[in-house]
Amino acid sequence: MSVARRSSPLRLALAALVVVLGAVGAALLVAGSADAERRAAGRVVGGTTAAIAARPFQVALWSPNHFSGSQASMNVPSMTQFCGGTIVAPTKIVTAAHCVTEDNGTVSSPSSIAVLAGTATLPDSPTPPAGARSIAVSDIAVLSSYNPSTVVNDAAVLTLASPIYEGTPAIDGTSRIAPIALVGTDDPTGATAAGAAVGISGWGDTTAHVGGDSTGASYPVDLYAATTHVVGSAACQQGYGSALVPSVMLCAGEPTGGVDTCSGDSGGPLTATVAGAPVLAGIVSWGSGCAQASYPGVYSRVAASVIGSFLRSSAGLESGPGGSTTTTTTTTTTTPPPATTTTTTTTPASTPTTATTTATAPRPATPSGAGAAATGPAVVAPSPTSTVDVAAPTVRVANVLCRRGRCAVRLQILDPAPSDGISSVRGTLRWSARVTCRRKGRATTCVRTRSRTIRGTLVGGSTWTLATPKLATRTRYRLTVVARDGTGRRQKRAVVVTLRR
Ligand code: ARG
Repeated sequence: MSVARRSSPLRLALAALVVVLGAVGAALLVAGSADAERRAAGRVVGGTTAAIAARPFQVALWSPNHFSGSQASMNVPSMTQFCGGTIVAPTKIVTAAHCVTEDNGTVSSPSSIAVLAGTATLPDSPTPPAGARSIAVSDIAVLSSYNPSTVVNDAAVLTLASPIYEGTPAIDGTSRIAPIALVGTDDPTGATAAGAAVGISGWGDTTAHVGGDSTGASYPVDLYAATTHVVGSAACQQGYGSALVPSVMLCAGEPTGGVDTCSGDSGGPLTATVAGAPVLAGIVSWGSGCAQASYPGVYSRVAASVIGSFLRSSAGLESGPGGSTTTTTTTTTTTPPPATTTTTTTTPASTPTTATTTATAPRPATPSGAGAAATGPAVVAPSPTSTVDVAAPTVRVANVLCRRGRCAVRLQILDPAPSDGISSVRGTLRWSARVTCRRKGRATTCVRTRSRTIRGTLVGGSTWTLATPKLATRTRYRLTVVARDGTGRRQKRAVVVTLRR
């Protein structure tokens, strides 16, 4: 959740375009500490760490088997949380479809996901702390009309292997685990009218940034929550364009930016208030950057009958007031491969060129992911009209998650069709170390450059991870990423991530 003020005055001239969220292969700098501090200091507008009893319906989705080999000890919620979710019944969790589908459009394996409830702090152990529960997922229902290219109908329901609570706990400030009701179809009470106050929460990135830039991304282990406001469709479409924000989506944010959900919050709740009680009104879905003025967060609208009726039928809930009885078919097997749409995007003023690009789906958070999904549709290079793999791959840094000095850099690597696939992903970590050396016969300190090569591992779909060894404090590391495709082409633009403990 990003509750930072707009961190930069840069109003990028993101013209008509789709959400240039995935600045292809852009060189990326992750946080110098001064930078990180400046951002953290901006984190003032409404967002704070929240007690779980304030959001007892909030759960974390994590991957119990993301890392392997010597890194298997990192298979804990604090390292592998990748999305949020909401408890709506003892064995039913609402989340975003993009959290539980793979890049190739198939539904993720239920066994790759666990649901953690009852704690605001993501534990360093696969066994949840006292009062919390972690339960395996046994089934995943994705709304059949979910379109990964347009992010329309981004909704899914997870079925748990056993109940996550007993009895009828209420959201009363004391329960740590409790279900929440869904807002009624068509929102009869106007709880989500433009300007209405809404609650957002999650373990996502707490920094504000423009689309395509995840500089300084920071993933907390503590739950953050904030109050923000519904942005009317017309105002939302002014920033994004009407084609991008149809009525099945709901927007929320502040006129000047500053309060928003962000990568890693996806799937989690946006709550509205009906008769003094919170109701689930939105599912965190996408946005251009985070906490940017004119680009509010975009949520799946639970009051839209296609979404609400799917959630109710999949979760076995009664139809709410005015609830639709339309049955929606769901699929737990495959969704159609993402259709692509061609759009014209104008790049920021510094490079006044207009390029035709192909918009693809937002990077779905693979359940095996440490950290979280990137925001919104990524923009990839156009495919050449050739039958051989002539296009170089593109590399985008999805997120960087560091815990106790070890960092996992998640990459989204695409090779435009026709593709022979990605054959290797390597990272070279470089840093300066002070060593004792002899100069003119005298022992003195000198600085030597050290380097180490890290092999990337395919996490699933087009998501790769580079896991660093433990980093020393007060040292600046530069990680250069090189991806090669099956015909040996490497990505065109250098991808350099700066890491610092
Ligand atoms: N797609 C992101 C995720 O998977 C959520 C992005 C929300 N972005 C925003 N600006 N509200 O976590």
